[in-house]
Amino acid sequence: MTAKAKTVLITGANRGIGAAMEGAFHSKGWQVISCMRKLTDQARPTEPGQRLSIRLEMDVTHQAQIDEVAKFLNENNVTLDVLINNAGIFPEPTDMSFRNLDLNWFHEAMNVNLVGTIRVTKTLLPLLAKSQNPRIVNLSSGAGSISQRSGRRYCYGASKAALNHFTRGLATELKPEGITVVALSPGWVKTDMGGSEADLEPESVGTSIEQTVQSLTLRQTGRFLDRLGNTGTYSW
Ligand SMILES: NC(=O)c1ccc[n+]([C@@H]2O[C@H](COP(=O)([O-])OP(=O)(O)OC[C@H]3O[C@@H](n4cnc5c(N)ncnc54)[C@H](OP(=O)(O)O)[C@@H]3O)[C@@H](O)[C@H]2O)c1
Repeated sequence: MTAKAKTVLITGANRGIGAAMEGAFHSKGWQVISCMRKLTDQARPTEPGQRLSIRLEMDVTHQAQIDEVAKFLNENNVTLDVLINNAGIFPEPTDMSFRNLDLNWFHEAMNVNLVGTIRVTKTLLPLLAKSQNPRIVNLSSGAGSISQRSGRRYCYGASKAALNHFTRGLATELKPEGITVVALSPGWVKTDMGGSEADLEPESVGTSIEQTVQSLTLRQTGRFLDRLGNTGTYSW
């Protein structure tokens, strides 16, 4: 791997917004480390002169796999500039009423959307330390807003609200070290999770997020951004 290339690691990069971000970052010359639960055999071809991108197996609920990724990156002397915690699930049927909730959906949502992000961040944090502009981007959602709470989405919404809480805390703690931490909501995107009625195409969202991440600095740490990097679209 090229030691000086800007490097981004994306979780859940095999489909949806994660795959779109992989494409967007790759096309802008980033070194992309795409992590996914099951490796696909359609690795993005690296043309001569392009920075090497790589796909690694990582389930965000499996600490041993996250450790393996960290070991591989350490052995290859990789410095991460950006960690994008994108992997996420929406376990409950949309609009499920409180009385019909299965408590397992809470466990699943928390384990992937909150604790998965924490596991990955805790394990990979040392790899960000050497970057000139280290950034952690947690994919959040308007459903995680408490002040703009609407609809049901109890399990997913609670997990994203907790993720927002974690994001603010981590931003405060890591600011003195120069590490930027933000929550970013992509908007309503046509993916397996967002559904076909959504108003945004994953490719355009991937492009917007790359631009936002590219210009992200410590001045924005602790903010809840939209895909274009604006604050104010979403409230905590
Ligand atoms: N789409 C929207 O409208 C929307 C809106 C707001 C926020 N978001 C957020 O944006 C992120 C991406 O959403 P999306 O729409 O692209 O969802 P998606 O199409 O359902 O894709 C989810 C991705 O997360 C991966 N994933 C799930 N559990 C995982 C685990 N345990 N370990 C590793 N990867 C795992 C999936 O991998 P598998 O293929 O292995 O399942 C898949 O790659 C999520 O955090 C979501 O909450 C999406």
